Formats: sequence, C-alpha cells, structure tokens
Amino acid sequence: MRLKDKVAVITGAGQGIGRAYAQRFAREGAHIVVAEINEEIGRRTEQEVKQLGVDALYVKTDVGNEASTKEMAAKAAEHFGRIDILMNNAAIFFGMDREDQSLDYFNRILSVNLTGVWLCTRAVEPYMKRQRKGKIVNQSSTAAYMGNVGMVDTSDPDKPSPPFHYSVAKMGVNGFTKYFAGALGPWGINVNAICPGVTMTEATKSVVPPEMVDMLVMFTALKKPLQPEDLAGTAVFLASPDSDLMTGQVLVVDGGMIMLG
Ligand SMILES: NC(=O)c1ccc[n+]([C@@H]2O[C@H](COP(=O)([O-])OP(=O)(O)OC[C@H]3O[C@@H](n4cnc5c(N)ncnc54)[C@H](O)[C@@H]3O)[C@@H](O)[C@H]2O)c1
Repeated sequence: MRLKDKVAVITGAGQGIGRAYAQRFAREGAHIVVAEINEEIGRRTEQEVKQLGVDALYVKTDVGNEASTKEMAAKAAEHFGRIDILMNNAAIFFGMDREDQSLDYFNRILSVNLTGVWLCTRAVEPYMKRQRKGKIVNQSSTAAYMGNVGMVDTSDPDKPSPPFHYSVAKMGVNGFTKYFAGALGPWGINVNAICPGVTMTEATKSVVPPEMVDMLVMFTALKKPLQPEDLAGTAVFLASPDSDLMTGQVLVVDGGMIMLG
C-alpha cells in the first residue's frame, strides 16, 4: 500500500475520474474526504470507500465558494487530524455548454475550473504548512494544449469562434501548478498536475461528440481511449513519496497524442 493512513481530500469525487481516484486511493490505504457539490453521488462514493476498509468523510463542498472550501478543510482536519493530499479534480465538465459564449458563462466556468483550484489549495495550505509536508495534484487536461487548431469554420463570419473557456481554465491550472510549486515548496509541499486525454466518463459522453472522440483517439500512439482507472496510477505516484523530489510538473496521460519535452 503506497498511501497507507494518508488523508486525501478529493474534490469532485462523486463520479467519473474523481470517483476512480477515491477508490484507488482507498485501495492504497488512504482515508478519503469526498469534497463534492452533489450530495447524492458524494455519499455514494463515501460508502463505496468505507467498504474498502478505510475511513471516509463526505463534506458538501462548492470549490468555487471560498467559505465552503474553508469549511471543508476545517471539517477534514477536525475528523482526521491532518490533511496529507489534495486532489483538485472538480470541474464543470458534465453537461458543459460548448456553444454558450456569454461573459456570465465564461466567468462561471472559470470560477469553478480555475478559481476553485486556488480556493481549495488556499483552504488546505495552513494544515499542510503546519505539517511541513503535503501533496497537491491538480487535474488539468490536454485541452490546455489544443488551442482549437483545425476547428474553425470560415464559411460564416457571424458564427462565433470555437469554445475556449474550458481550455483557458486548464491553461490557468497549469500556471497555478508552477506558481504554487514555488510558493509552497519551501514548506515541504509538492504541487504537480495531470493532463488527461479524452477519458470515457459520462461527462465526456455528454460533451464530446462520438466522432470527435474517435478522431482524438485516432491521433494517439496507443489508439485507445482512456478509462478513469487508467489515470489513477499517475495520481497515486504524485501523491506518494515516490515523487517527493518532483514539483511544478505537468504530466500528460493521454495515450500518446501531446508529446512534450
Ligand atoms: N473526462 C475527460 O475526458 C477529461 C479529460 C481531461 C481532463 N478531465 C478533467 O478531469 C476532471 C474530472 O472529469 P470527469 O470526466 O470525471 O467529469 P465529471 O463532470 O463527471 O466530474 C466532475 C465532478 O465534479 C463535481 N463538481 C462540479 N462542480 C463542482 C463544484 N463547484 N464543487 C465541487 N464539486 C463539483 C461534479 O458533481 C462531478 O462529480 C475534471 O477536472 C475534468 O476537467 C476530464
């Protein structure tokens, strides 16, 4: 077990990739704080995790609301006595509107998908600093590298540009990762990020048309769409002592489409 008795806060752990992280972290011996806005699915993950033999605590959390993130961290610390790991996984993705380019919607996406990462980091920071140890893993996306290339329709000048709010938020997550790695490193806190490629969650099915999924998979070296469980090993690595001397890094896990370095 690589995370035995560590306390891991996982945001958005009610479904999809966050749920897979919670289950895998529990199998690695971690106790889980399910920080999820949707109570029904959050409680489901809490029960599933308990059945794996570790402790779990559901805390209703809106990562885009500062008071809610502070309350979440306080409840986690009160229940478990410490916070070792923060997985900043929550985002507005399921049912995301790819057509809405209003300023309100742009701000809403950013408030959860980008500002939420900062607020949760800031909420757990005091506990990790007192421990002089902590692991923060931010969930980014290969969308941060795509830049809408090839998706522009030039037949109609009145048509809006392709959607960008999700990608821009994830670029910001990569930026936060580097900034916080520098700011928190002297306290013994590592901050890294994972950029998954297209992963077959219910959210993906609700947002990405099947033909686009096929096209994205076609451009990968391994020719396989990812399942949520395929990301969990990288998350465990970044949360475990195996990555103790690694910080400020963004790891792409996408079957081999974006090849950095
Ligand atoms: N599925 C993919 O292909 C893919 C690819 C790259 C990155 N990602 C990223 O991985 C993460 C999970 O993706 P997923 O496919 O499991 O998405 P999902 O929409 O199924 O899961 C997101 C979870 O976050 C929760 N959530 C939403 N807003 C919240 C808020 N304000 N506060 C707390 N919880 C909130 C949702 O209820 C849900 O349980 C997201 O950050 C997403 O951007 C997904």
